[in-house]
Amino acid sequence: MNQVKVFDNEIPLPDGALKRKADSLLGFDARYERIRNQLRLLLSLDEVETWNKKFHGGELAMSALIAEQYPLAIFHGDVGTGKTAAAECMADRMVREAGAEDSILFKLSNRVRGSGKVGEMGTLLAEAFQRIAQSAGKTRRAVVIVDEGDSLATNRTEGNSHHEDKVAVNTLIQCIDDLRRFGGRVVVFLCTNRASVLDPAVRRRAAIIEEFKRPDDEERRALFTMDLAGLNLTATQINALVTATRGKGDFPQFTYSDIRTRLYPAAIALAFPKRGMTFADLETALHTVKASPRLEDK
Ligand SMILES: Nc1ncnc2c1ncn2[C@@H]1O[C@H](COP(=O)(O)OP(=O)(O)O)[C@@H](O)[C@H]1O
Ligand SMILES: [Mg+2]
Repeated sequence: MNQVKVFDNEIPLPDGALKRKADSLLGFDARYERIRNQLRLLLSLDEVETWNKKFHGGELAMSALIAEQYPLAIFHGDVGTGKTAAAECMADRMVREAGAEDSILFKLSNRVRGSGKVGEMGTLLAEAFQRIAQSAGKTRRAVVIVDEGDSLATNRTEGNSHHEDKVAVNTLIQCIDDLRRFGGRVVVFLCTNRASVLDPAVRRRAAIIEEFKRPDDEERRALFTMDLAGLNLTATQINALVTATRGKGDFPQFTYSDIRTRLYPAAIALAFPKRGMTFADLETALHTVKASPRLEDK
């Protein structure tokens, strides 16, 4: 028995909290719609062949390419742009749409990296995927989130990549390959801040590659409008917040998490519990809270 906990979390799906969380994410529905169509294709390989026969006499060469795809989506972008939140909420929605009650969201822990003992990482990773495979039954689905995926799937040819890391990438690729036999009942979301260091073999397997960006002016305006409803701010005040979080020159604009998990708490802390929060508190907080530096390399 291995004592290492290979999952941070095993969340039964569907999950009410994730459904509510989706409602609080800007642009989630549009992004989901776009990815869902790709996923549906991926998850219905038999139907693609039937479709090919029906409309193209089975002659459409590209339908064979579809059959070679893997149930892997890569979400990349700066820290705080919503990759993890989107993956969790998509997992929940996919399961709802598939009518697959009794499914599970597995969040793979970085502890699968192990303690550095030879072969440990590969073994833990293989065990994790075995558990995942076991839980995917006829209708049940398993969705796997590999967060900070670059730590497991670093390019094997990188100069500083250690033997252990190479073994882990090989194992991860093997696990992803094996998942094809589940015909879409197991889907993996791999999130990373550093897409460029991902091993090409992992990247090549991704059926979906989604980029996450910092919110532009319109998105930050929509975010402030949604989150600060109840403060009754004027359009001029909202605009001031949009401008203040825009970034300048080499400085990037605020990320979603800069705004939600740093700016808001700093502003509320100025008022709570003695008085209500005001626009001035947000302005004051903006003196101390700055946008996080860009992380994603190109
Ligand atoms: N589309 C979005 N709209 C509003 N808030 C978002 C959005 N995406 C992320 N956030 C907020 O940003 C925070 C960080 O998101 P997270 O998914 O952890 O980012 P990442 O995984 O890219 O580092 C969350 O608390 C979430 O509320
Ligand atoms: Mg994340």
